[in-house]
Amino acid sequence: MPLLLLAAAGLLASALALGAQTSASSTSLDFEFFRVRVQSVFTTKRPGNARCVTCHALGTTMQLQPLSPGSATWNEEQSRKNFEIVRSRVVPGNPAASRLLQHPLAESAGGDPHHDGGKHWTSKDDPEYQMLAAWVRGETMGSVAAVHGNVRIIQTNSAGDNVHVIDPLTNMVVGQINGIEVGHGAAAAPDGSRLYFSNEADTTLDVVDGRTLRVTNKIQLSGHPNNIAASRDGKRVYVAIREEPGAVDVIDTLALQRVKSIPVKGAVHNTYVTPDGRYVVAGSIQGKNATIIDAQTEQPLWVLDFELGVRPMAFETNPDGSTKRMFVQLTEFNGFAVVDFATHKEVTRIELPKLGPGKKPILEGGNASHGMAVSADGQRLVVDSRLNSAVYVYSLPELTLLGSVDVGRAPDWVTLTPDGKTAYVANAGSNSVSVVDIVALKEVTRIPVGQVPKRNITVMLPSPMTSRSAIR
Ligand code: HEC
Repeated sequence: MPLLLLAAAGLLASALALGAQTSASSTSLDFEFFRVRVQSVFTTKRPGNARCVTCHALGTTMQLQPLSPGSATWNEEQSRKNFEIVRSRVVPGNPAASRLLQHPLAESAGGDPHHDGGKHWTSKDDPEYQMLAAWVRGETMGSVAAVHGNVRIIQTNSAGDNVHVIDPLTNMVVGQINGIEVGHGAAAAPDGSRLYFSNEADTTLDVVDGRTLRVTNKIQLSGHPNNIAASRDGKRVYVAIREEPGAVDVIDTLALQRVKSIPVKGAVHNTYVTPDGRYVVAGSIQGKNATIIDAQTEQPLWVLDFELGVRPMAFETNPDGSTKRMFVQLTEFNGFAVVDFATHKEVTRIELPKLGPGKKPILEGGNASHGMAVSADGQRLVVDSRLNSAVYVYSLPELTLLGSVDVGRAPDWVTLTPDGKTAYVANAGSNSVSVVDIVALKEVTRIPVGQVPKRNITVMLPSPMTSRSAIR
Protein backbone atom coordinates (compact mmCIF):
# COMPACT_ATOMS: atom_id res chain seq x y z
CA MET A 1 0.00 0.00 0.00
CA PRO A 2 1.43 3.40 -0.93
CA LEU A 3 2.77 5.18 2.12
CA LEU A 4 0.65 8.26 1.49
CA LEU A 5 -2.59 6.25 1.52
CA LEU A 6 -1.57 4.50 4.73
CA ALA A 7 -0.85 7.83 6.38
CA ALA A 8 -4.20 9.20 5.17
CA ALA A 9 -5.99 6.11 6.56
CA GLY A 10 -4.21 6.58 9.87
CA LEU A 11 -5.20 10.23 9.95
CA LEU A 12 -8.81 9.34 9.21
CA ALA A 13 -8.80 6.73 11.97
CA SER A 14 -7.46 9.16 14.53
CA ALA A 15 -9.91 11.83 13.38
CA LEU A 16 -12.75 9.31 13.87
CA ALA A 17 -11.41 8.32 17.27
CA LEU A 18 -11.21 11.98 18.22
CA GLY A 19 -14.79 12.51 17.11
CA ALA A 20 -15.94 9.61 19.21
CA GLN A 21 -14.03 10.92 22.19
CA THR A 22 -15.51 14.39 21.93
CA SER A 23 -19.05 13.14 21.97
CA ALA A 24 -18.13 10.64 24.67
CA SER A 25 -16.94 13.38 26.95
CA SER A 26 -20.07 15.51 26.46
CA THR A 27 -22.51 12.62 27.07
CA SER A 28 -22.15 10.25 29.98
CA LEU A 29 -23.82 6.89 30.29
CA ASP A 30 -25.89 6.41 33.43
CA PHE A 31 -25.06 3.18 35.29
CA GLU A 32 -28.35 3.06 37.18
CA PHE A 33 -30.31 3.33 33.92
CA PHE A 34 -28.15 0.55 32.49
CA ARG A 35 -28.56 -1.66 35.57
CA VAL A 36 -32.34 -1.47 35.70
CA ARG A 37 -33.54 -0.83 32.17
CA VAL A 38 -30.89 -1.75 29.58
CA GLN A 39 -30.18 -5.10 31.23
CA SER A 40 -33.89 -5.90 31.26
CA VAL A 41 -33.77 -5.84 27.42
CA PHE A 42 -31.02 -8.48 27.57
CA THR A 43 -33.05 -10.81 29.77
CA THR A 44 -36.56 -10.30 28.36
CA LYS A 45 -38.04 -12.97 26.14
CA ARG A 46 -39.80 -11.62 23.07
CA PRO A 47 -42.09 -13.78 20.93
CA GLY A 48 -40.13 -15.19 17.98
CA ASN A 49 -36.70 -14.14 19.28
CA ALA A 50 -34.13 -15.77 21.54
CA ARG A 51 -33.11 -13.65 24.54
CA CYS A 52 -29.89 -11.60 24.17
CA VAL A 53 -28.48 -13.18 27.36
CA THR A 54 -28.91 -16.72 26.06
CA CYS A 55 -26.20 -16.16 23.43
CA HIS A 56 -24.25 -13.21 24.79
CA ALA A 57 -23.38 -14.86 28.11
CA LEU A 58 -22.07 -17.94 26.27
CA GLY A 59 -18.85 -16.77 24.69
CA THR A 60 -20.28 -14.73 21.84
CA THR A 61 -18.56 -11.42 21.27
CA MET A 62 -19.90 -8.66 23.64
CA GLN A 63 -19.69 -11.26 26.37
CA LEU A 64 -22.05 -10.59 29.27
CA GLN A 65 -21.68 -12.13 32.73
CA PRO A 66 -23.44 -15.48 33.14
CA LEU A 67 -26.57 -15.26 35.27
CA SER A 68 -26.10 -16.85 38.69
CA PRO A 69 -28.12 -20.07 39.08
CA GLY A 70 -31.73 -19.28 39.91
CA SER A 71 -31.24 -15.58 39.14
CA ALA A 72 -33.34 -13.72 36.59
CA THR A 73 -30.97 -10.76 36.48
CA TRP A 74 -27.45 -9.66 37.44
CA ASN A 75 -26.21 -8.44 40.82
CA GLU A 76 -24.44 -5.10 41.31
CA GLU A 77 -20.92 -6.42 40.65
CA GLN A 78 -21.95 -8.40 37.55
CA SER A 79 -23.88 -5.35 36.30
CA ARG A 80 -20.74 -3.19 36.60
CA LYS A 81 -18.83 -5.70 34.47
CA ASN A 82 -21.63 -5.82 31.88
CA PHE A 83 -21.67 -2.01 31.84
CA GLU A 84 -17.97 -1.94 30.85
CA ILE A 85 -18.49 -4.55 28.10
CA VAL A 86 -21.57 -2.89 26.63
CA ARG A 87 -20.41 0.73 26.82
CA SER A 88 -17.62 -0.05 24.32
CA ARG A 89 -20.35 -0.99 21.79
CA VAL A 90 -21.99 2.41 21.87
CA VAL A 91 -21.06 5.93 20.84
CA PRO A 92 -22.43 8.14 23.61
CA GLY A 93 -24.87 10.67 22.21
CA ASN A 94 -25.26 8.81 18.91
CA PRO A 95 -27.60 5.78 18.81
CA ALA A 96 -27.34 5.43 15.01
CA ALA A 97 -23.56 4.93 15.30
CA SER A 98 -23.88 2.42 18.14
CA ARG A 99 -23.47 -1.28 17.35
CA LEU A 100 -25.62 -2.19 20.36
CA LEU A 101 -28.61 -0.67 18.59
CA GLN A 102 -27.65 -1.18 14.94
CA HIS A 103 -26.92 -4.92 15.15
CA PRO A 104 -30.37 -6.17 16.24
CA LEU A 105 -32.21 -3.49 14.15
CA ALA A 106 -33.70 -4.54 10.78
CA GLU A 107 -31.65 -3.37 7.80
CA SER A 108 -34.79 -1.85 6.26
CA ALA A 109 -35.07 0.37 9.35
CA GLY A 110 -31.46 1.53 9.01
CA GLY A 111 -29.77 -1.30 10.93
CA ASP A 112 -26.69 -3.40 10.09
CA PRO A 113 -27.07 -5.93 7.25
CA HIS A 114 -26.54 -8.95 9.51
CA HIS A 115 -26.62 -10.08 13.15
CA ASP A 116 -26.10 -13.73 13.96
CA GLY A 117 -28.54 -13.27 16.82
CA GLY A 118 -31.29 -12.19 14.45
CA LYS A 119 -33.27 -9.00 14.02
CA HIS A 120 -35.17 -7.97 17.13
CA TRP A 121 -36.62 -4.62 16.09
CA THR A 122 -38.34 -3.90 12.77
CA SER A 123 -38.34 -0.16 13.40
CA LYS A 124 -36.66 2.46 15.51
CA ASP A 125 -40.05 3.01 17.15
CA ASP A 126 -39.69 -0.30 18.94
CA PRO A 127 -39.89 0.39 22.71
CA GLU A 128 -36.71 -1.62 23.36
CA TYR A 129 -34.79 0.32 20.70
CA GLN A 130 -36.15 3.58 22.13
CA MET A 131 -35.07 2.62 25.62
CA LEU A 132 -31.51 1.75 24.58
CA ALA A 133 -31.36 4.95 22.48
CA ALA A 134 -32.40 6.96 25.53
CA TRP A 135 -29.53 5.47 27.52
CA VAL A 136 -27.03 6.21 24.71
CA ARG A 137 -28.31 9.81 24.55
CA GLY A 138 -27.34 10.16 28.20
CA GLU A 139 -30.70 9.97 29.88
CA THR A 140 -30.72 9.02 33.54
CA MET A 141 -33.30 7.16 35.60
CA GLY A 142 -34.76 10.48 36.67
CA SER A 143 -34.83 12.23 33.29
CA VAL A 144 -36.21 9.29 31.32
CA ALA A 145 -39.39 9.52 33.29
CA ALA A 146 -40.37 12.82 31.72
CA VAL A 147 -39.26 11.85 28.20
CA HIS A 148 -40.97 8.49 27.98
CA GLY A 149 -43.85 9.27 30.22
CA ASN A 150 -44.10 5.78 31.63
CA VAL A 151 -43.79 6.85 35.24
CA ARG A 152 -46.99 5.89 37.00
CA ILE A 153 -48.49 6.51 40.40
CA ILE A 154 -50.03 3.30 41.69
CA GLN A 155 -52.89 4.12 44.05
CA THR A 156 -54.45 1.40 46.20
CA ASN A 157 -58.03 1.71 47.47
CA SER A 158 -58.18 0.20 50.94
CA ALA A 159 -61.97 -0.22 51.01
CA GLY A 160 -62.27 -1.17 47.35
CA ASP A 161 -61.45 -4.15 45.14
CA ASN A 162 -59.23 -2.30 42.68
CA VAL A 163 -56.09 -0.21 42.24
CA HIS A 164 -55.81 2.94 40.13
CA VAL A 165 -52.91 3.82 37.83
CA ILE A 166 -52.26 7.55 37.38
CA ASP A 167 -50.09 9.17 34.68
CA PRO A 168 -48.26 12.08 36.37
CA LEU A 169 -47.80 13.88 33.04
CA THR A 170 -51.54 14.28 32.51
CA ASN A 171 -52.75 13.61 36.06
CA MET A 172 -55.34 11.24 34.66
CA VAL A 173 -56.26 7.72 35.69
CA VAL A 174 -54.90 5.67 32.75
CA GLY A 175 -55.41 2.16 34.04
CA GLN A 176 -57.08 0.02 36.65
CA ILE A 177 -56.07 -3.25 38.26
CA ASN A 178 -59.09 -5.33 39.24
CA GLY A 179 -59.69 -8.19 41.62
CA ILE A 180 -57.65 -7.06 44.64
CA GLU A 181 -60.13 -6.79 47.50
CA VAL A 182 -58.93 -4.67 50.44
CA GLY A 183 -55.50 -4.09 48.92
CA HIS A 184 -53.05 -2.84 51.52
CA GLY A 185 -49.41 -2.40 50.48
CA ALA A 186 -47.92 -1.89 47.02
CA ALA A 187 -44.40 -2.55 45.70
CA ALA A 188 -42.78 -3.02 42.29
CA ALA A 189 -39.94 -4.86 40.57
CA PRO A 190 -37.09 -2.41 39.75
CA ASP A 191 -37.90 -2.55 36.00
CA GLY A 192 -41.67 -2.26 36.56
CA SER A 193 -42.29 -5.67 34.98
CA ARG A 194 -44.27 -6.69 38.05
CA LEU A 195 -46.32 -5.04 40.75
CA TYR A 196 -47.08 -6.60 44.11
CA PHE A 197 -50.04 -5.96 46.42
CA SER A 198 -50.92 -7.42 49.80
CA ASN A 199 -54.51 -8.63 49.74
CA GLU A 200 -56.22 -8.45 53.13
CA ALA A 201 -59.33 -10.33 51.96
CA ASP A 202 -57.44 -13.41 50.72
CA THR A 203 -54.32 -13.24 52.97
CA THR A 204 -52.17 -13.31 49.84
CA LEU A 205 -49.51 -11.35 48.06
CA ASP A 206 -51.00 -10.66 44.62
CA VAL A 207 -48.59 -10.46 41.69
CA VAL A 208 -49.58 -8.22 38.77
CA ASP A 209 -47.97 -8.07 35.31
CA GLY A 210 -46.68 -4.51 34.76
CA ARG A 211 -47.60 -4.58 31.06
CA THR A 212 -51.07 -6.13 31.14
CA LEU A 213 -52.08 -4.97 34.66
CA ARG A 214 -53.59 -8.39 35.33
CA VAL A 215 -53.16 -10.51 38.47
CA THR A 216 -50.94 -13.45 37.48
CA ASN A 217 -50.26 -15.13 40.84
CA LYS A 218 -51.55 -15.16 44.39
CA ILE A 219 -49.02 -16.21 47.02
CA GLN A 220 -50.37 -17.48 50.35
CA LEU A 221 -49.05 -15.64 53.40
CA SER A 222 -48.51 -16.86 56.98
CA GLY A 223 -51.08 -14.43 58.40
CA HIS A 224 -53.08 -11.24 57.88
CA PRO A 225 -50.91 -8.83 55.84
CA ASN A 226 -50.35 -5.09 56.05
CA ASN A 227 -47.73 -3.12 54.16
CA ILE A 228 -45.01 -4.55 51.91
CA ALA A 229 -41.59 -3.59 50.50
CA ALA A 230 -39.40 -4.95 47.70
CA SER A 231 -35.66 -5.50 47.90
CA ARG A 232 -33.47 -3.23 45.75
CA ASP A 233 -32.62 -6.06 43.36
CA GLY A 234 -36.26 -7.12 43.16
CA LYS A 235 -35.60 -10.67 44.32
CA ARG A 236 -37.52 -10.40 47.57
CA VAL A 237 -40.78 -8.90 48.79
CA TYR A 238 -41.12 -8.41 52.54
CA VAL A 239 -44.66 -8.55 53.90
CA ALA A 240 -45.73 -7.16 57.29
CA ILE A 241 -47.81 -9.78 59.11
CA ARG A 242 -50.33 -7.95 61.28
CA GLU A 243 -51.00 -10.84 63.67
CA GLU A 244 -49.39 -11.63 67.02
CA PRO A 245 -46.70 -12.65 67.74
CA GLY A 246 -45.53 -10.73 64.65
CA ALA A 247 -43.46 -11.65 61.60
CA VAL A 248 -42.12 -10.46 58.28
CA ASP A 249 -42.91 -12.92 55.49
CA VAL A 250 -40.15 -13.23 52.88
CA ILE A 251 -41.32 -13.88 49.32
CA ASP A 252 -38.90 -15.16 46.70
CA THR A 253 -40.04 -13.38 43.52
CA LEU A 254 -38.43 -15.93 41.19
CA ALA A 255 -39.98 -18.98 42.82
CA LEU A 256 -43.12 -16.93 43.58
CA GLN A 257 -43.49 -18.40 47.02
CA ARG A 258 -42.99 -17.61 50.69
CA VAL A 259 -39.57 -18.90 51.68
CA LYS A 260 -39.56 -17.87 55.34
CA SER A 261 -41.14 -15.79 58.08
CA ILE A 262 -38.79 -13.70 60.20
CA PRO A 263 -40.17 -13.55 63.77
CA VAL A 264 -40.21 -10.05 65.33
CA LYS A 265 -41.62 -8.63 68.56
CA GLY A 266 -45.17 -7.47 67.90
CA ALA A 267 -47.62 -7.55 65.00
CA VAL A 268 -46.09 -5.69 62.03
CA HIS A 269 -47.80 -2.75 60.33
CA ASN A 270 -45.25 -1.39 57.83
CA THR A 271 -42.11 -2.88 56.30
CA TYR A 272 -39.43 -0.89 54.49
CA VAL A 273 -36.14 -1.55 52.75
CA THR A 274 -33.54 1.16 53.44
CA PRO A 275 -32.53 3.04 50.25
CA ASP A 276 -29.14 1.26 50.15
CA GLY A 277 -30.93 -2.10 50.21
CA ARG A 278 -29.02 -3.31 53.27
CA TYR A 279 -31.76 -3.42 55.89
CA VAL A 280 -35.40 -4.36 56.19
CA VAL A 281 -37.24 -2.30 58.80
CA ALA A 282 -40.44 -3.58 60.41
CA GLY A 283 -42.60 -1.26 62.53
CA SER A 284 -45.07 -2.52 65.12
CA ILE A 285 -48.01 -0.62 66.60
CA GLN A 286 -48.68 -3.13 69.40
CA GLY A 287 -44.99 -3.80 70.09
CA LYS A 288 -44.22 -0.02 70.01
CA ASN A 289 -40.98 -0.74 68.21
CA ALA A 290 -39.11 -0.97 64.95
CA THR A 291 -37.00 -4.05 64.21
CA ILE A 292 -34.00 -3.59 61.91
CA ILE A 293 -33.26 -6.78 59.94
CA ASP A 294 -30.11 -7.56 57.94
CA ALA A 295 -31.32 -8.03 54.33
CA GLN A 296 -28.44 -10.40 53.56
CA THR A 297 -28.84 -12.84 56.45
CA GLU A 298 -32.54 -12.07 57.02
CA GLN A 299 -31.90 -11.99 60.80
CA PRO A 300 -33.01 -9.18 63.16
CA LEU A 301 -30.07 -6.95 64.20
CA TRP A 302 -31.51 -4.39 66.62
CA VAL A 303 -34.79 -3.11 67.98
CA LEU A 304 -35.77 0.50 68.52
CA ASP A 305 -38.31 0.96 71.33
CA PHE A 306 -40.79 3.82 71.71
CA GLU A 307 -43.49 4.58 74.26
CA LEU A 308 -45.99 4.84 71.36
CA GLY A 309 -46.93 2.55 68.49
CA VAL A 310 -44.74 2.76 65.39
CA ARG A 311 -46.47 3.95 62.23
CA PRO A 312 -45.01 4.92 58.81
CA MET A 313 -41.32 5.69 58.41
CA ALA A 314 -39.03 7.43 55.89
CA PHE A 315 -35.26 7.36 55.40
CA GLU A 316 -32.61 10.03 54.82
CA THR A 317 -29.31 8.92 53.29
CA ASN A 318 -25.64 9.89 53.61
CA PRO A 319 -23.74 10.87 50.43
CA ASP A 320 -22.57 7.24 50.07
CA GLY A 321 -26.19 6.02 50.07
CA SER A 322 -26.13 4.54 53.57
CA THR A 323 -28.91 5.45 55.99
CA LYS A 324 -28.39 8.63 58.00
CA ARG A 325 -31.68 9.20 59.82
CA MET A 326 -35.04 7.52 60.13
CA PHE A 327 -38.21 9.56 60.50
CA VAL A 328 -40.85 7.67 62.46
CA GLN A 329 -44.53 8.48 62.88
CA LEU A 330 -46.07 7.41 66.18
CA THR A 331 -49.57 6.51 67.36
CA GLU A 332 -51.70 9.58 68.13
CA PHE A 333 -48.71 11.92 67.71
CA ASN A 334 -49.21 14.62 65.05
CA GLY A 335 -45.60 14.69 63.90
CA PHE A 336 -42.60 12.39 63.81
CA ALA A 337 -39.53 11.17 65.72
CA VAL A 338 -36.04 11.63 64.27
CA VAL A 339 -33.69 8.66 64.80
CA ASP A 340 -29.94 8.62 64.18
CA PHE A 341 -29.39 5.34 62.34
CA ALA A 342 -25.74 4.84 63.36
CA THR A 343 -26.29 5.25 67.11
CA HIS A 344 -29.83 3.74 67.12
CA LYS A 345 -31.05 6.74 69.18
CA GLU A 346 -33.99 9.10 68.86
CA VAL A 347 -32.40 12.57 68.61
CA THR A 348 -35.49 14.76 68.45
CA ARG A 349 -39.25 14.73 67.98
CA ILE A 350 -41.01 17.24 65.76
CA GLU A 351 -44.66 18.17 66.22
CA LEU A 352 -46.57 19.56 63.23
CA PRO A 353 -48.20 22.98 63.67
CA LYS A 354 -51.67 23.16 65.26
CA LEU A 355 -54.63 24.00 63.03
CA GLY A 356 -55.53 27.68 62.73
CA PRO A 357 -58.85 29.03 64.06
CA GLY A 358 -61.96 27.99 62.13
CA LYS A 359 -60.46 24.69 60.91
CA LYS A 360 -61.73 21.39 62.25
CA PRO A 361 -59.37 18.49 62.93
CA ILE A 362 -60.29 15.00 61.63
CA LEU A 363 -60.34 12.74 64.67
CA GLU A 364 -61.83 9.50 63.30
CA GLY A 365 -59.95 6.94 61.20
CA GLY A 366 -56.21 6.31 61.19
CA ASN A 367 -53.29 7.98 62.89
CA ALA A 368 -52.95 11.77 63.46
CA SER A 369 -49.92 11.88 61.18
CA HIS A 370 -49.65 9.03 58.67
CA GLY A 371 -47.47 8.93 55.54
CA MET A 372 -44.08 10.51 54.78
CA ALA A 373 -41.61 10.66 51.91
CA VAL A 374 -38.08 11.96 51.29
CA SER A 375 -37.40 13.47 47.83
CA ALA A 376 -34.93 11.65 45.56
CA ASP A 377 -32.47 14.57 45.79
CA GLY A 378 -32.61 14.27 49.58
CA GLN A 379 -33.61 17.91 50.03
CA ARG A 380 -37.18 17.64 51.24
CA LEU A 381 -39.28 15.65 53.67
CA VAL A 382 -43.05 15.60 53.07
CA VAL A 383 -45.24 14.70 56.05
CA ASP A 384 -49.00 14.03 55.99
CA SER A 385 -51.31 15.12 58.75
CA ARG A 386 -54.65 13.31 58.71
CA LEU A 387 -55.63 15.42 61.70
CA ASN A 388 -55.06 18.70 59.82
CA SER A 389 -55.96 17.48 56.28
CA ALA A 390 -52.67 19.01 55.13
CA VAL A 391 -49.14 18.08 54.12
CA TYR A 392 -46.05 19.75 55.60
CA VAL A 393 -42.76 20.19 53.75
CA TYR A 394 -39.45 20.28 55.66
CA SER A 395 -35.99 21.06 54.29
CA LEU A 396 -33.29 18.43 54.77
CA PRO A 397 -30.97 18.11 56.54
CA GLU A 398 -32.04 21.17 58.59
CA LEU A 399 -35.61 19.99 59.24
CA THR A 400 -36.85 23.56 58.84
CA LEU A 401 -40.55 23.81 58.05
CA LEU A 402 -40.83 25.33 54.54
CA GLY A 403 -44.60 25.42 54.51
CA SER A 404 -47.81 23.45 54.30
CA VAL A 405 -50.49 22.73 51.72
CA ASP A 406 -54.14 21.92 52.44
CA VAL A 407 -55.26 18.74 50.66
CA GLY A 408 -58.39 16.54 50.75
CA ARG A 409 -59.74 14.94 53.94
CA ALA A 410 -57.49 12.71 56.03
CA PRO A 411 -54.35 12.29 53.87
CA ASP A 412 -52.98 8.85 54.69
CA TRP A 413 -50.03 8.23 52.38
CA VAL A 414 -47.73 10.11 50.00
CA THR A 415 -45.39 9.25 47.10
CA LEU A 416 -43.12 11.59 45.12
CA THR A 417 -42.23 11.77 41.41
CA PRO A 418 -38.62 10.79 40.51
CA ASP A 419 -37.66 14.47 40.05
CA GLY A 420 -38.73 15.08 43.65
CA LYS A 421 -40.95 18.05 42.74
CA THR A 422 -44.46 16.63 42.97
CA ALA A 423 -46.25 14.75 45.73
CA TYR A 424 -49.26 12.46 45.22
CA VAL A 425 -51.22 12.46 48.45
CA ALA A 426 -53.91 9.82 49.07
CA ASN A 427 -56.93 11.50 50.68
CA ALA A 428 -58.51 8.58 52.54
CA GLY A 429 -61.47 10.71 53.61
CA SER A 430 -62.39 12.12 50.21
CA ASN A 431 -61.63 9.26 47.79
CA SER A 432 -59.17 11.39 45.86
CA VAL A 433 -55.48 12.01 45.30
CA SER A 434 -54.11 15.53 45.74
CA VAL A 435 -51.29 16.49 43.38
CA VAL A 436 -49.04 18.88 45.29
CA ASP A 437 -46.16 20.97 43.92
CA ILE A 438 -43.80 20.70 46.89
CA VAL A 439 -41.49 23.45 45.60
CA ALA A 440 -44.18 26.08 44.94
CA LEU A 441 -46.16 24.67 47.90
CA LYS A 442 -49.53 24.50 46.22
CA GLU A 443 -52.14 21.92 45.25
CA VAL A 444 -52.13 21.46 41.46
CA THR A 445 -55.22 19.29 41.11
CA ARG A 446 -57.26 16.57 42.78
CA ILE A 447 -57.89 13.22 41.05
CA PRO A 448 -60.93 11.09 41.96
CA VAL A 449 -60.00 7.46 42.73
CA GLY A 450 -61.66 4.50 44.53
CA GLN A 451 -62.89 3.81 48.05
CA VAL A 452 -60.64 5.08 50.88
CA PRO A 453 -57.31 5.40 49.02
CA LYS A 454 -54.27 4.72 51.18
CA ARG A 455 -50.86 3.30 50.20
CA ASN A 456 -49.39 4.57 46.93
CA ILE A 457 -46.06 4.16 45.12
CA THR A 458 -44.24 5.66 42.13
CA VAL A 459 -43.07 3.18 39.47
CA MET A 460 -41.71 3.15 35.96
CA LEU A 461 -43.80 0.64 34.04
CA PRO A 462 -42.58 -1.11 30.87
CA SER A 463 -43.40 0.86 27.73
CA PRO A 464 -46.56 -0.81 26.33
CA MET A 465 -48.46 0.64 29.27
CA THR A 466 -48.06 4.12 27.80
CA SER A 467 -50.77 3.33 25.27
CA ARG A 468 -54.27 4.18 26.38
CA SER A 469 -55.47 0.81 25.10
CA ALA A 470 -54.29 -0.58 28.43
CA ILE A 471 -57.31 1.03 30.07
CA ARG A 472 -59.82 -1.50 31.20
C1 HEC B 1 -29.00 -16.49 18.90
C2 HEC B 1 -27.90 -15.88 19.59
C3 HEC B 1 -27.93 -14.36 19.77
C4 HEC B 1 -28.94 -13.59 20.28
C5 HEC B 1 -30.29 -14.03 20.80
C6 HEC B 1 -28.46 -12.23 20.24
N1 HEC B 1 -27.20 -12.18 19.72
FE1 HEC B 1 -26.09 -10.54 19.43
N2 HEC B 1 -24.66 -11.64 18.49
C7 HEC B 1 -24.68 -13.00 18.37
C8 HEC B 1 -23.49 -13.43 17.65
C9 HEC B 1 -23.15 -14.87 17.30
C10 HEC B 1 -22.74 -12.28 17.36
C11 HEC B 1 -21.41 -12.17 16.61
C12 HEC B 1 -21.65 -12.22 15.10
C13 HEC B 1 -22.36 -11.00 14.59
O1 HEC B 1 -21.84 -9.89 14.76
O2 HEC B 1 -23.45 -11.15 14.05
C14 HEC B 1 -23.53 -11.17 17.91
C15 HEC B 1 -23.12 -9.86 17.85
C16 HEC B 1 -23.74 -8.83 18.51
C17 HEC B 1 -23.20 -7.49 18.62
C18 HEC B 1 -21.89 -7.01 18.09
C19 HEC B 1 -20.87 -7.45 19.11
C20 HEC B 1 -19.54 -6.74 19.10
O3 HEC B 1 -18.60 -7.29 19.65
O4 HEC B 1 -19.46 -5.64 18.62
C21 HEC B 1 -24.11 -6.76 19.35
C22 HEC B 1 -23.98 -5.32 19.76
C23 HEC B 1 -25.19 -7.64 19.68
N3 HEC B 1 -24.95 -8.89 19.15
C24 HEC B 1 -26.30 -7.26 20.42
C25 HEC B 1 -27.35 -8.11 20.72
C26 HEC B 1 -28.54 -7.69 21.44
C27 HEC B 1 -28.77 -6.29 22.03
C28 HEC B 1 -29.35 -8.77 21.49
C29 HEC B 1 -30.76 -8.84 22.06
C30 HEC B 1 -31.67 -7.80 21.68
C31 HEC B 1 -28.67 -9.86 20.84
N4 HEC B 1 -27.46 -9.43 20.38
C32 HEC B 1 -29.19 -11.14 20.72
C33 HEC B 1 -25.65 -13.86 18.84
C34 HEC B 1 -26.84 -13.47 19.41
